[in-house]
Amino acid sequence: MDADPIPTFAGASPNDLDALWMPFTANRSFKQAPRMLGRAEGMFYWTPDGREVLDATSGLWCVNAGHGRPEIADAIARTARTLDYAPPFQMGHPLMFQAASRLAEVTPPGLDRIFFTNSGSESADTALKIALAYHRARGEAGRIRLIGRERGYHGINFGGLSVGGIGANRRGFGPLLGNVDHLPHTHDPSRNGFSRGLPAHGAEGADALEHLVALHGADTIAAVIVEPMAGSAGVLPPPVGYLKRLRELCDRHGILLIFDEVITGFGRVGAAFAAERWGVVPDLLTMAKGLTNAAVPMGAVAASETIYRTVVENAPPGIELFHGYTYSGHPLACAAAIATLDIHRDENLAARARASERAWEDAVHSLRDRPNVIDIRNVGLVAGIELRPRDGKPTERAARIMQRCFDDGLLIRTTADIIALSPPLVIETAHIDRIVSTLGDAITAEAA
Ligand SMILES: Cc1ncc(COP(=O)(O)O)c(C=O)c1O
Repeated sequence: MDADPIPTFAGASPNDLDALWMPFTANRSFKQAPRMLGRAEGMFYWTPDGREVLDATSGLWCVNAGHGRPEIADAIARTARTLDYAPPFQMGHPLMFQAASRLAEVTPPGLDRIFFTNSGSESADTALKIALAYHRARGEAGRIRLIGRERGYHGINFGGLSVGGIGANRRGFGPLLGNVDHLPHTHDPSRNGFSRGLPAHGAEGADALEHLVALHGADTIAAVIVEPMAGSAGVLPPPVGYLKRLRELCDRHGILLIFDEVITGFGRVGAAFAAERWGVVPDLLTMAKGLTNAAVPMGAVAASETIYRTVVENAPPGIELFHGYTYSGHPLACAAAIATLDIHRDENLAARARASERAWEDAVHSLRDRPNVIDIRNVGLVAGIELRPRDGKPTERAARIMQRCFDDGLLIRTTADIIALSPPLVIETAHIDRIVSTLGDAITAEAA
């Protein structure tokens, strides 16, 4: 395809890379040997010097419909020429209402009130604040405690970080929010090693909420927030029955249940949302990433009718919820979201992911006998491949495998010594074969 010239950075002096402080990146080593992407289409990236790289990560779990969708690009361009921006506070524009209505058609039944943000982190903090506002509005202002889970990831703003459970992200940023506690994580390789789909054991892990209720008192707890499937901490699908049990316990104690579906939404687990796939509806559901196919930053929180009405109808005249962002419901993001939702509907991407799930599962589990593979887990179009860390050098093995794959034309993602795969949902058999063979070779090459 013809494309505009891409800056190559060939011969760039180190200073050309100095100004940027890169996020979640080993800046020093990256700038010694940069890995650059210049163009993307369908299942592929191309480096600025034209090398093809198969995308096994949907960018960062977000380009679910495949790269460079012209429908989305056209909608963004059209909107940029028509309405570059409109303030969302005390003003509106048609696209933000249309985007919310369209989104409410695919969110689980009953979660039909949509609040727009710009990212997953903002969605997590927004959901936590809505939970607090809800209890206050119904006369239980003492419910201020927020419960997260070990190994949970809810972004990097102070709320999401506080309920999050990844030590490296938390350490070094002070005491974070008070009134927070954590459930244990669900990962149990001794009983669930090499699970295909949801692991069989561990639903009883949800009962730890009873301990926190006994410790703190239910009347101090506002909400529990979990990823239905923990993604960033290394792909931890929920044990069979775990989410249902958590729902029952929250109901028993008047605690709101928040599902962070920033990764699991928009077809990733073989249904529009994990809530649908596993038949458990939360009170609040957070989204981002796949919502616009990542073409424009956008996040959202879907709230139940009860939460919306309680907060809004109990407020004195005027603004009901003192929360929002300059770019909540930005016209370009709304245009991208509507175009993305059209693609998901027309191409039934969730069903497509579900149809590919078995072939994907068989392919990734074929890596089981490669050196140092200590666990493989999968669900929908996600897989986690856990490697034995090198003695005294945690993360090194996975980082070197990632580099090898990139050199061999495959983009994977690693968290500690876990490889996380989450390809675009438009993946075909030949792509699956190529992912597994390139990755398998790289794992073998790093056997030592
Ligand atoms: C479950 C979950 N919540 C929140 C976030 C944060 O999203 P963002 O990076 O858009 O702020 C992520 C990002 O990976 C995520 O996986």
